[in-house]
Amino acid sequence: ARLLLLHGPNLNLLGTREPEVYGRITLAEIDADLSGRAAAAGHTLDCLQSNAEHVLVERVQAARDDGTAFVLINPAAFTHTSVALRDALAAVAIPFIEIHLSNPHAREPFRHTSHFSDLAVGVVSGFGADSYRYALDAALARLSGASR
Ligand code: DQA
Repeated sequence: ARLLLLHGPNLNLLGTREPEVYGRITLAEIDADLSGRAAAAGHTLDCLQSNAEHVLVERVQAARDDGTAFVLINPAAFTHTSVALRDALAAVAIPFIEIHLSNPHAREPFRHTSHFSDLAVGVVSGFGADSYRYALDAALARLSGASR
């Protein structure tokens, strides 16, 4: 199947951005790791990072027509602000998992709300880059019908 991995604003800075919060791994390393794992399982993974809300909205809209079966998304700061990106995911009705490197609930109060969690299949947060791996594993289990 075809999967889509989306990263929101400032995640292009991973590796140097607040490493005590987000770790030292780069976004390129995360994308390569997940793409390899998806390929090994017989799937393809498209990856996109953008700092622009409309770019992410348009990529989600395009996913309706390109055969994307599952979306993995770290909306980053848009988690807490973007009704538009939420509405795009609702519109295409493709199942998705919300991902965070940090645990937003252990941080500032403005990070405690998400415009995505109630629509998501599930949320994986707090495990650094491993959050992405766990989310991919969950997506692959769903796609193969093996999830319990
Ligand atoms: C984040 C958490 C968000 O609150 C923050 O705005 C981010 C990254 C995370 O992965 O931990 O940019 O989504």
